[in-house]
Amino acid sequence: MENEQQSVGQSVLAFYRVLPFNYRQSVAEHAREIKERNAILSYPVLPPLLEKPEMRVLEIGCGPGWMSNGIAHHYGCPVTGLDFNPVAVERAQAVAVELAVKSEFQVGDLFQWSPEAPYPLVISLGVLHHTDDCQGAVRRLCTDFTAPGGHVLIGLYHEPGRRPFLDHFADMKAAGASEDEMLERFRKLDSHIKDETHLMSWFRDQVLHPHETQHTLREMVALIEDCGMTLEATSINRFQPFDSIEGLYAQEQGYADLAAERLAAGQYFPGFFVFLAGKAR
Ligand SMILES: C[S@@+](CC[C@H](N)C(=O)[O-])C[C@H]1O[C@@H](n2cnc3c(N)ncnc32)[C@H](O)[C@@H]1O
Repeated sequence: MENEQQSVGQSVLAFYRVLPFNYRQSVAEHAREIKERNAILSYPVLPPLLEKPEMRVLEIGCGPGWMSNGIAHHYGCPVTGLDFNPVAVERAQAVAVELAVKSEFQVGDLFQWSPEAPYPLVISLGVLHHTDDCQGAVRRLCTDFTAPGGHVLIGLYHEPGRRPFLDHFADMKAAGASEDEMLERFRKLDSHIKDETHLMSWFRDQVLHPHETQHTLREMVALIEDCGMTLEATSINRFQPFDSIEGLYAQEQGYADLAAERLAAGQYFPGFFVFLAGKAR
């Protein structure tokens, strides 16, 4: 088990050392993107939390720091970003200096690192499904990193929603497509990315990754409830209020068809979901 754990972590780290996810050509490009567009607004549950007095944020698997530096720039709260890739952390730090914001970054593995004190808000987007123990990682965030009365926002690949995308590129590969041909297919699907380094970082992350797992809201709700947390919102229903969790579970099954339809229409649908959970005081 320990060897397996080491080998997944090591291969994922080696993969991201070559090119971190969400990397851009320059520090200035990263900073310009953060200033010009408040990307935090894609997660409408965050601003009310970030505007609370005394808010402090921990981001696990921050990569080059668009979220951590974006929060520090647009909301002014102190943010700590953790990632085990020193290449990504160096870039995140340089962007923080360029923006003159109060975010700080540390190099560390989420399974070994511990905060000095738990945080009222812990965020982790697209990270935990690249470990060999996604459930253990979620448990660690909820139990060890989040303060009583605090929140976690976690984003993971979604089992029904991700499958059509993975099958599409697996079929291309089986039919003998080269990496360049798959890159061109990806470029067409995700045509909004203009920076070539950024595009390549997405293509590698989405299509060539050495390790990923997929999950469901149903699985995550059972897990967070076991950690003393309650589901408050999810991207499965576009962060709207919900009457019954069973209704959300029915809705998430529909993501397989939705993903297949989007792909058939030539639209990018990576199959990713996010949930916000609150911890009892
Ligand atoms: C897909 S990227 C997401 C980066 C960032 N959250 C974003 O949205 O741009 C996954 C990140 O998780 C980091 N990571 C993976 N496993 C980790 C671990 N065990 N400890 C710390 N960071 C880890 C990788 O280095 C990488 O930066």
